Amino acid sequence: MTVRRYLIAGNWKMHCRQSDGAALAADLAARVGPVADPRFDLLLCPPATIVATISQAVSGSAVSVGGQDCHAQAQGAHTGDIAADMLADVGAGWVIVGHSERRTNHAESNAMVRGKAAAVLRAGLATIVCVGETEAERDAGQAEQVVAAQLKGSIPDGAAATNTVIAYEPVWAIGTGRTPTLADIAAMHAMIRARLSGLVADPDAVRILYGGSVKPSNAAEILGLPDVDGALVGGASLKADDFWAIAQACP
Ligand code: PGA
Repeated sequence: MTVRRYLIAGNWKMHCRQSDGAALAADLAARVGPVADPRFDLLLCPPATIVATISQAVSGSAVSVGGQDCHAQAQGAHTGDIAADMLADVGAGWVIVGHSERRTNHAESNAMVRGKAAAVLRAGLATIVCVGETEAERDAGQAEQVVAAQLKGSIPDGAAATNTVIAYEPVWAIGTGRTPTLADIAAMHAMIRARLSGLVADPDAVRILYGGSVKPSNAAEILGLPDVDGALVGGASLKADDFWAIAQACP
């Protein structure tokens, strides 16, 4: 059986100024220490403006840092955009792509997400590719179909367990306090695992995170499900105690 280490990733979204971000990161870095827990990897994805600061704050610890988005090109006339390589330059090892807030607020299609993910891999970083259905799609019985299409359209050539993680985040569960039933999460993660064959070289080794209202009170039951290999955490990642409690809930 393939052993997959858990990944507990914090998506800070558009929160944290330099000083509070650095304090939060330093607190977590002190808890993790120089050697990662045998159960999990910890990743912080702050706003791009403080990636360098947060990288400094966690240096010497086993905590990793990532960006929340990047451009599909390595450089050029793209005002306001950031290349994956620029995130790498200031200490990022990861970039989240295709978060539903990007897909919705910036009309990012699967093809665009795929282009960004490919750029992340070209820059030598690892990517978290987000997928997830809306409430209307779930109510219409289309959740699996939508997520399958997002996987097929968003995962770039060259994706493998070493450079790519999938995050399943039902849009209606993000920031709402609502989560799918454990059975629904397990069913979707099993479907994603099955669909990964043909899209990645080593489908059994790829980590599949759940995201959407993960908190200390539900982390253990969600992380205990088969094919759930970690969590992408928004709101609860902004409090060191809560984020740490989620990581400690890894089996
Ligand atoms: P949430 O966000 O934990 O606040 O629901 C998750 C996410 O958007 O990644």
